[in-house]
Amino acid sequence: VAGVSELLLSRIRDVPDYPKPGVMFKDITPLLADPAAFAALTDTLAALSTRHGATKIVGLEARGFILGAPVALRAGLGFIPVRKAGKLPGATLRQSYDLEYGSAEIEVHAEDLAAGDRVMVIDDVLATGGTAGASLDLIRRSGAEVAGVAVLMELGFLGGRRKLEQALDGAPLEALITV
Ligand code: PRP
Ligand code: MG
Repeated sequence: VAGVSELLLSRIRDVPDYPKPGVMFKDITPLLADPAAFAALTDTLAALSTRHGATKIVGLEARGFILGAPVALRAGLGFIPVRKAGKLPGATLRQSYDLEYGSAEIEVHAEDLAAGDRVMVIDDVLATGGTAGASLDLIRRSGAEVAGVAVLMELGFLGGRRKLEQALDGAPLEALITV
């Protein structure tokens, strides 16, 4: 993964003071616009998903959709969207999680996950771990197993890995880049 990580990192743009002062935003749009880099990212995440025995790919709205959908196709697996609450028409499982200020809710269609599934969660960035953690709670509540979490980038200084430890329960957290 060494050479790939350098390629990917070179296509992520640091935007200072966005969305608010003091925050360094990691903008992945240059990577998405580069088909060689996007393909390398997709291939790497698909290979990880296969290696960890995934049978389904969950993508976390919104940026996790952009990465997760091609990964699912590449790995030959179904893609399951975990959406921000209120967007899915069918019966759902809903999970709330804490944000810096307040809280948020995500949902998945209840029929999309069940016992016997092994689910890989795909997202662009692991920051505090709140979003990924809530998705793991949803997956376990559905009766499915967690194959792992794979992100393009982990913001190590925010401690998300530690926060996810319990929800992962031994499943791997893969980050292609750690900053
Ligand atoms: C961002 C990012 C991750 C999440 C990481 O999503 O894409 O999903 O935050 O933060 P956390 O580890 O602290 O939960 P966000 O909901 O901001 O926006 P998006 O809809 O553009 O993906
Ligand atoms: Mg997101």
